[in-house]
Amino acid sequence: MCGIVGYTGVKPAAPILLEGLRRLEYRGYDSAGVCVGNDGALSVVKRAGKIKDLRAIVPKDLAGFWGIGHTRWATHGGVTDLNAHPHADCSGKITIAHNGIIENFAGLKEKLLSEDHLFLSETDSEVIAHLIESVYDGDLERAVKEALALLKGTYGIVVMHADEPGKVVGARNGSPLVLGIGEGEMFLASDVTAMMAYTKQVVYIEDGEVVTVQPSGFRTSDLHDNSITKKVEHIGWEIEEIEKQGFATYMEKEIFEQPEAILRAMRGRLDLEQATGHLGGLNLSSRELLNVERVKIVAAGTSFHAGIVGAYLLESIARIPATAELASEVRYRNPIVERGALHFVVSQSGETADTLYAMRELKRKGATVLGVCNVVGSTIARESDGGVYIHSGPEIAVASTKAFTSQMTVFHIFTLLMARMRNMSYEQGAQIAKELEAIPGYVSQILAEKEQIRALATKYSWAKDVLFLGRGINYPVALEGALKLKEISYIHAEGYSAAEIKHGPIARINERTPSVFLVPDDRLRDKVISNMKEVKARAGKVIAVCSQGDDEVASIADDTIQVPRVHEIVSPFVMVVPLQLFAYYCALELGRDVDQPRNLAKSVTVE
Ligand code: G6P
Repeated sequence: MCGIVGYTGVKPAAPILLEGLRRLEYRGYDSAGVCVGNDGALSVVKRAGKIKDLRAIVPKDLAGFWGIGHTRWATHGGVTDLNAHPHADCSGKITIAHNGIIENFAGLKEKLLSEDHLFLSETDSEVIAHLIESVYDGDLERAVKEALALLKGTYGIVVMHADEPGKVVGARNGSPLVLGIGEGEMFLASDVTAMMAYTKQVVYIEDGEVVTVQPSGFRTSDLHDNSITKKVEHIGWEIEEIEKQGFATYMEKEIFEQPEAILRAMRGRLDLEQATGHLGGLNLSSRELLNVERVKIVAAGTSFHAGIVGAYLLESIARIPATAELASEVRYRNPIVERGALHFVVSQSGETADTLYAMRELKRKGATVLGVCNVVGSTIARESDGGVYIHSGPEIAVASTKAFTSQMTVFHIFTLLMARMRNMSYEQGAQIAKELEAIPGYVSQILAEKEQIRALATKYSWAKDVLFLGRGINYPVALEGALKLKEISYIHAEGYSAAEIKHGPIARINERTPSVFLVPDDRLRDKVISNMKEVKARAGKVIAVCSQGDDEVASIADDTIQVPRVHEIVSPFVMVVPLQLFAYYCALELGRDVDQPRNLAKSVTVE
């Protein structure tokens, strides 16, 4: 969601800014623009639409060695060329690109209008350019600080001034900003993917910090101008990991990477000999883990679904009371932090605003909060008390797939660790550890059956409405299956507990509303079969994801996807992968933009 880039150095800025913006496309956006400085003049090129549309109108000979760029995800004002960033002040000498929301922009705008500032857009962001103009006296960094002190809300910004060639000022409050250090050149961006082609040396800018870059170096300080010394860190990802590597889309690549990603999430953590788990990053001693009386998991979107699976595992296997809650609800609920409670926040990006703010609220109340993140160095990863990286590698497609299975993997290992400290015997632990070790193999077997799932997607892509139904540990998988389908195909889909259909969803059943039932061979199988029969009795079409050789389910369902017969706690893996493929192939069949579905953002950095 909104991406910002900045560059200063010795190379032409425009191609670097455009390439940086292309790398940020995955975050979700609807317009884009760049501003390049040359000989005391700034040129802004911006438009609604995709980066390729912007590229088409950026003059090939646009000269200049410093500049800023932006991908906009509309919040204030429609998707128009004028609302696209960068925005300029009245003189056209100052330009800014902003990610976040300025909450007090209306009052500030009114005041600036009364001082004869001329506004060209409907955005909240444009006030920043005019505010800086109103306090500027020859020192851009100082003017930015003065202006920021007047703002309420969230921002990641980059700013440039025509009279200060080669300088870009960046600042952060709530929206991410990373500095990249090159040889005689500096980069600023919302995330590291925009600069990985040029440098791996980065500095994560924190809330309340301002960074001023010039080709020769950078300075970090706070709004009161106190200098801050920052740690230079190394990006662990390789540039190849953010390429499609022969796959048609990022989503396809990420689905097919899952066996390897799950293995990475397990590596060094699953101890087959001791039949337990090791999660060093938790920063908790065995005694502290033993004192945990309950676990509360907080997350959004797909990460929330992984959190529900985690809560189910912790309760049923480790016998620790556990719940999963939506971050957006926790934050405003004045949450109670109980003694003995351990909190997890789960976030692939580590930047989701709702999850981050919920975490801060919990920490403010004294909670111990652990992060389960993918992006190393992300805000949640840095601000949490400890945690576990899932090590999935970059996830670029908006619809999350490999992060989900890796997040579940981490909760499986944590559950094994906690259970073995409590009620679980070595023999039981060894059996579970063996099952966990087998997960990548099970997932590979399902991926090998992709053509069968593609055929089913082709058969059912006419549907306008699909129900996903599961029970127990596969109830959250039903939610995830429905989310995947609606995110990328735009087919309306709902996930329910199969038992709940009688309380509403069954009213929608007819021959035009297919239902996808998750029917692993577990304790609840017979109950789910009864629910399937209820749907069949009302002429509903049924696709069942069931265990190999389950003839009874096959005889009831219209179609089946047969998956390896596994231990109940491993079943979410074998159930969710077919649903990811089903959603993916339905979206392809309907000609959707799978990696960048309309209106959605990968990293939701506003509330
Ligand atoms: C957005 C993404 C989803 C993701 C959710 C939570 O909605 O499109 O794929 O599940 O945010 O993101 P997080 O990075 O916190 O896991």
